[in-house]
Amino acid sequence: MAERARTPWWVRPGLEVHEGRLTIAGRDAEAVAREHGTPLYVHDAERVAEQARALEGALRAVGLSPRVRLALKAQRDPDLLAAVRRLVPFLGIDACSPGEVAWALEHGWAPEEISMTGTNLSDRDLDRILPTGVRVNVDLLSQLERVGRRAPGAHVGLRVNPRIGASKAGGGESFYAGRRPTKFGVFAEQLPDALAIARRHRLVIDTVHLHVGDGYLTEGLNDLGEALRRVAGIVRRLQEAGCPIVEVNTGGGLGVPEGPDEAPLDLDRWAAMLAEHLGPLGVAVGTEPGDFLVKEAAIHLAEVVTVERRDGVLFVGLDTGWNVMGEHFIYGAPLELVLCRDVVGPPVEPVTIAGNINEGNDLFAEDLPFPAVQEGDVVAAINVGSYNASMTSAHCLRGPARSVTFADRGGDL
Ligand SMILES: Cc1ncc(COP(=O)(O)O)c(C=O)c1O
Repeated sequence: MAERARTPWWVRPGLEVHEGRLTIAGRDAEAVAREHGTPLYVHDAERVAEQARALEGALRAVGLSPRVRLALKAQRDPDLLAAVRRLVPFLGIDACSPGEVAWALEHGWAPEEISMTGTNLSDRDLDRILPTGVRVNVDLLSQLERVGRRAPGAHVGLRVNPRIGASKAGGGESFYAGRRPTKFGVFAEQLPDALAIARRHRLVIDTVHLHVGDGYLTEGLNDLGEALRRVAGIVRRLQEAGCPIVEVNTGGGLGVPEGPDEAPLDLDRWAAMLAEHLGPLGVAVGTEPGDFLVKEAAIHLAEVVTVERRDGVLFVGLDTGWNVMGEHFIYGAPLELVLCRDVVGPPVEPVTIAGNINEGNDLFAEDLPFPAVQEGDVVAAINVGSYNASMTSAHCLRGPARSVTFADRGGDL
């Protein structure tokens, strides 16, 4: 069996291999698991800060006025949020529900630092959201009408849909925008209707929002550029109609590498593209990633509770399950699993790594080349800081996982 590469593709400052053992934030991962118990998320808050500073710096470098926000749906761990608040005080929040708005307020963000972009909001949702004073982007005409009835004269953002998405797969398609209609965003030809509704309720449209990305890397920037070109046209039409647009919020969807063949997103090119299309509009430029900010900021640790051969297949059973690690199962995201005490050890045979949920598909890997493993070992899932803990379900009454946050990399190694 082929040897694993000596330096795994995901190694970076803060997530390293030290004498063959996995370390996070300068600490030995297995030791952290023994101290805090498993299943366990371990957060490297400095990674969030690095990513946030990189985004903010890239936008400033091209002369834009940045508004960088974290998509709370990706990660809402209180200790991590507290650390991030301290490390990068400029980082705002993107919320998508009344619950997330309340969570952001409770965890120290001020209303003006919170941007709220939800979908299919009910009157009850609006009654909880509007009085808080957060910035609200509406995504359909019906929602604009509803906001107008409840809060005449309010300032609102309009989410638009430029009918093109940016993703890793390319082709101008994403979950959120493309040739087929999605449930998100007002189309360009609906602008007269949106303006009529706004006038009727004296609403002031001061923000344009788009979220068309889905894990895009540098190759996806051309599609993003076309989306921005179309949105800039929409912004101009709104400005001509008298809307005092102060911000274009470009949503999230920025990707991070998920395997050895992927290179990080070229942030300078990304920022240059935003500057080309949005710079001339004289607006602040928002970005609100989840994955880009937090995916690389956590590992998940689980103890091996079973090693047993069944009909020739070696099963490795973990004390965790898909209920606390759902991203791989829901979005098909690749999952990188390593043995903490022997990260680059030679694989001895393929294994099937299974969880503790009573469902046959609770399998983290099949036929995965793996080093020799024993019951009691600790296995880590790498780069699982987004859409995992935050999507924990109560299935089998097993969740949630524990968590620990390190705000520095001053471990004892
Ligand atoms: C409106 C909006 N903004 C931001 C995000 C964050 O996306 P990502 O984690 O891909 O950056 C999402 C994700 O669904 C979203 O719907």
